Amino acid sequence: MSSSVGWVIVNEHGKQMLALVTGGAGFIGSHIVERLLADGNRVRVLDDFSTGNRENLPELEGLEIITGDVGNFESVRKNMEDVDVVFHEAAVASVPRTISDPLGSQKTNYQGTLNALEAARQCGVRRVVFAASAAAYGDDPELPKREDMPPKPLSPYAVDKLASEYACQVYYCLHGLETVSLRYFNVFGPRQDPSSPYSGVISVFADKLINKEQPTIFGDGGQTRDFVYVADVVEANIKAATEKTAPGNTINIASGISVSLNDLLRTMCAICDSEFSPVYVEERQGDIRHSSANIDKAIDVLRWEPAVKLDVGLVSLLQRLGYEP
Ligand SMILES: NC(=O)c1ccc[n+]([C@@H]2O[C@H](COP(=O)([O-])OP(=O)(O)OC[C@H]3O[C@@H](n4cnc5c(N)ncnc54)[C@H](O)[C@@H]3O)[C@@H](O)[C@H]2O)c1
Repeated sequence: MSSSVGWVIVNEHGKQMLALVTGGAGFIGSHIVERLLADGNRVRVLDDFSTGNRENLPELEGLEIITGDVGNFESVRKNMEDVDVVFHEAAVASVPRTISDPLGSQKTNYQGTLNALEAARQCGVRRVVFAASAAAYGDDPELPKREDMPPKPLSPYAVDKLASEYACQVYYCLHGLETVSLRYFNVFGPRQDPSSPYSGVISVFADKLINKEQPTIFGDGGQTRDFVYVADVVEANIKAATEKTAPGNTINIASGISVSLNDLLRTMCAICDSEFSPVYVEERQGDIRHSSANIDKAIDVLRWEPAVKLDVGLVSLLQRLGYEP
């Protein structure tokens, strides 16, 4: 068994832990990589750079970057050698892309998870932390979402994420591989790509405000979301990788507070000293009206709580994007 001093973990061979971060060049993955390195761990990134970016990753000793596809078992198996912990972030994270290409995206979003689990089992990995999604809940009106509610996936993306959670549980029960699925709600923070209208709404609003353009709101802006800052998501991943009580669980990772898009934009406008004047356009088909999470399980099982309040996270993000208060 390993011992933990902070998060610099020494494995049973007395060596520094090696973490594999799939999708480590992406938004969330790159923050996990940064934290692991800062804590003194060795990190291997496996990424195909389809949406990830080399510039998201630091030039640091202890970081190995491999260009490869999680949909290719041989590649995943080869890069699993000597790994102690896996953070499986790689995915086609765009719901519309999974709708237009369900077969192609499934190779990453479900097959990729199965490849990671099977390679981890074969290589004797201690723990796999999986980036699951609140998309598993679909549009069930019952709020806040609890992990024991029946799932209702409404897209190939959600189906693949849910199937991946089940695969994690199966590997835990059948093979004793320690797995933890974290159902992220709406994550925001630096390095989130604003180029797609479907990417995080905060990154899209921030991009518009920085460029002095009017943000667009689909529908009346009364729809709500539960936003969680990326540093809190990183901390949840570290807890999921280290807490004894975590394995075998699926856990919501969110702030537990829901905010309407109108209120969100008002707060961002106030920070940027901009006028609140969004352009309202027709509601998007398939958009969920309200979303909020119950985070009791994260508090109990992971001993994790979000530390960054929405307005504080927004100021930090806008400053990182070049906004001068
Ligand atoms: N951002 C959110 O709010 C959110 C919410 C719920 C779940 N998630 C999940 O969190 C994870 C990270 O999301 P993100 O927002 O950082 O997205 P992202 O697109 O920035 O990161 C995904 C990374 O995976 C890589 N990748 C894609 N296909 C790959 C493949 N076949 N092989 C290897 N690498 C591949 C991409 O190049 C990218 O670096 C994803 O699994 C996503 O589904 C994100």
